Amino acid sequence: MKEVSLTGIKPTGDLHIGNYFGAIKPALELAKTYDARYFIADYHGLNTMKDPAELNSTIRHVAAGWLAAGLDPEKVILYRQSSIPEVFELTIMLTAFTSKGLMNRAHAYKAAVQENAEKGGDVDAGINMGLFTYPILMAADIIIFDSDVVPVGKDQVQHIEMAQDIAQAVNANYGKPVLKIPRAGVQENTAVVPGLDGRKMSKSYGNTIPLFAPEKTLHKTIMRVVTNSQTVDEPKDPESSQIYLLYKLFATAEEQAALAARYRAGGMGWGEAKEELFRAANRDLAPMRERYDAIMADIPALDRILAQGAEKARPIAAATVKRFRKAAGID
Ligand code: TRP
Repeated sequence: MKEVSLTGIKPTGDLHIGNYFGAIKPALELAKTYDARYFIADYHGLNTMKDPAELNSTIRHVAAGWLAAGLDPEKVILYRQSSIPEVFELTIMLTAFTSKGLMNRAHAYKAAVQENAEKGGDVDAGINMGLFTYPILMAADIIIFDSDVVPVGKDQVQHIEMAQDIAQAVNANYGKPVLKIPRAGVQENTAVVPGLDGRKMSKSYGNTIPLFAPEKTLHKTIMRVVTNSQTVDEPKDPESSQIYLLYKLFATAEEQAALAARYRAGGMGWGEAKEELFRAANRDLAPMRERYDAIMADIPALDRILAQGAEKARPIAAATVKRFRKAAGID
C-alpha cells in the first residue's frame, strides 16, 4: 500500500506564481508517489478572516486554483476541512492530551504575545483561542487520515512535531498505537521565486505576479519588474536579474541558454527581456487561467467536486475517531 501524504491549503486570496512554484507544483507531484490527499483549511481561515464574503470567495479561489493547476480529483482526494465534522470531534479529544505549556511554546502564538509585550499593555490582546489552539486543530487534520507524511515548509515543522507529541501522548496513555505518528516531509529544494523587486515573492511585500490575472494584467505586472539602469548596449548578467530568474521557471533548458547568451552579448534592453519573460510565462499560464476561469464560472460544479472529496474522506476520518473513542472508553 502506498503511504498517505496530506497537504493543508490555507485559504489565501490572490494566488501568485510564488505560491505556484513554491507550494502548489511540488505538492501536486506527491500524487505520483503517495496516496495524496489535499484539503482546504477553512476553519483555520476563520481565525483571521471574519468577513464572510471574503472567506467564502477565498475558499473557492484556492480550490479552483489547485484544480486549474492540475489537481485531479479523480486520482486524489480534495475536500474542505469544514465538511468533515469528525476533525472537530478529534480536536476536542486531542485537547485532553495536549498540555497548555506545549501551546504556550508555539511560534505563532509566542510571536503574537511578544509583539503585544513590546507595545506594552495586555499581552493577550487580539489573540483568540483559535490561534492559541491552532496546532491542535492542525494535529487533528493530520492524524484523522492516518497520514504518513505531511509536506511542509520549514515554518510548519514545529506544528508537525506537536502533532507527533500529541499522538504519542495518546498512544502512551493507552499503551497501544491508537493513532498514527506522522512525519514532516520538509521541502528543501523548492524554487525560490523572486518578486518584482527581487525579494522573495510574497503577498506581504506587495511584489507578486498573480497566477490567474488576465493576459493584459500579467503583461502590465511583468513590465513593472524592477531593473537597474544598464543601457540596451551593455552586456548583462542574467543570473543577477530577477527577470531572468523568473524566465527560468517557465523556459526550457535550451531557451534559458539562448536567452542567457543574449543577456551576456549586450544589445538587449530590459524592456525586451521583460517581453521574453511575458511570452514564456503566458505560454504556461494561459491554459491554467482558462481552466481557472471555467471553474470559477460554475461554482455549483466546483462545490460538487469538493463534496465528492468529502464523501471519500469522511469514512476514513470516522474510522479514526471510532478507534480513538473505543480506546478511550467512549464507545
Ligand atoms: N498551517 C498550515 C499553513 O499555515 C496549513 C495547515 C492547516 C496544514 N492544517 C494542516 C498543513 C495540516 C498541513 C497539514 O500553511
